[in-house]
Amino acid sequence: NYWTTERLNRLYKDWPADRIEELKTQIKKSNWRFGYHIQTETGLLNDPNGFSYFNGQWHLFFQAFPFGGTHGLKSWTHMVSDDLVHWENVGKPMVPDTKYDRHGCYSGSAIAIDDKLFLMYTGNVWEKMNEVRHPYQDGAWMDKDNNITKLSEPLIANPPKGVTGHFRDPQVIKHGDYYYAFLGAQTTEEKGEIVAYRSTRVDGGWEFYSKLDIGNDNLGYMAECPNLLFVDGHPVLTFCPQGADKKSFKYDNVHPNAYIVADDINWETMKLINPSKMRQLDEGFDFYAAQGINAPDGRTLLTGWLGLPDTTYPTDDEGWEGGLSMVRELSLDDDKNLIQTPVAEMKSIEDGPEDTFNGMEVDKQSLIDFKINPDADNQVAITAGNTHLVFDIDSDCQKLTLHRKDVENDGHDETRSIRLNNGKIENCKLYLDNTVFELFINDGYKTMTGFFFHEGTHLNLNWTEVEEMRVTKLANLDIN
Ligand code: FRU
Repeated sequence: NYWTTERLNRLYKDWPADRIEELKTQIKKSNWRFGYHIQTETGLLNDPNGFSYFNGQWHLFFQAFPFGGTHGLKSWTHMVSDDLVHWENVGKPMVPDTKYDRHGCYSGSAIAIDDKLFLMYTGNVWEKMNEVRHPYQDGAWMDKDNNITKLSEPLIANPPKGVTGHFRDPQVIKHGDYYYAFLGAQTTEEKGEIVAYRSTRVDGGWEFYSKLDIGNDNLGYMAECPNLLFVDGHPVLTFCPQGADKKSFKYDNVHPNAYIVADDINWETMKLINPSKMRQLDEGFDFYAAQGINAPDGRTLLTGWLGLPDTTYPTDDEGWEGGLSMVRELSLDDDKNLIQTPVAEMKSIEDGPEDTFNGMEVDKQSLIDFKINPDADNQVAITAGNTHLVFDIDSDCQKLTLHRKDVENDGHDETRSIRLNNGKIENCKLYLDNTVFELFINDGYKTMTGFFFHEGTHLNLNWTEVEEMRVTKLANLDIN
């Protein structure tokens, strides 16, 4: 096995220069690259990090291991954009190179303060390799030339009392006179929880403030990547409760990404007021570790990792893995359901309507927009060789079942389904990007996201009973 502990933990400066070039050559041959989703130039991508608006641009970092399609020593790759759609790699990553982040610059967030951007992240350090971890919560300042300077000392040197070494992923936000950092934690009883620290200045003085009371203790054994967001003034908390009990919270992926909507939050008691039940943020195959922000333009924006922890993908052998979802805008409907839609700027890559007919070959970058016939069993299928992605909607129009048969699962059909309890499925927007799909049901009331590692170079579209079908070609932006 190529991936020895030594290679997985090798300092970035110790990799031979030609490793990246080798991977690039190999990746050029891939049939599975994306067109308008963020992907890596080489190596693995996981969580979105440091999503922010600063210095007149959008900034988005991601967890990366550039030296192969596996979870090695993590750094932050830095992307910038003027419109949340066209992204460019800045080429100045934050890499693990201090004694407080030696084994990985793990996930974290960013906040713009005056003419600088502050990054708060978890420095992973193995005290005993792969057994005893010591998490540091670290800080760094980034200037307007995108140069990052790490603080010399950690902001939080140890987990709080009663918390194990699973303590990470700080989300820093400002409220009133304080900065708050929300962190995912595991208690010594091996229960997941979310805790808050606070300080009056961002680059020091951080103190434990409180556990966040979310009205639910089904957070499994570890809650990763918490985000407290506000939509129309209401708190929306997103997080990843690893090992959450499936009896009260249904999910089919190895680890879920969940959310709770509340009326308000009491900042004194750190309690969500009238919290909803826990729901899945996305009901597809590959979506995790979402990060959101309250943007200065008033929108609540979110993007997630296209991928799951503890999972291998067929692209690993090509030397790359993972992507980021399109940026989504969040809103709430009258019943406080979370609505997710692609950011409005996505319109700018629509290349105009295609001549749409049953059995057509669709472009690898396509938007497939369909209305459901309420009196029949509707089906929409993308096929490529022996692989397919099929969406079945029952004639009662309350249930949608997604079937995936691709090269990932030895040719088995895997399914995910969603059911609407009140209301019917009326319309779907399927964003296809070669091997990535994002489905938005009823204008974003439910989403299903994942990979489709098809065989074959042609993607064909067939349907039965659908009331209206419109295919639009999308631009291939070749982001990496
Ligand atoms: C979630 C996660 C985070 C951690 C990061 C490491 O996918 O496990 O909790 O900070 O990935 O890459």
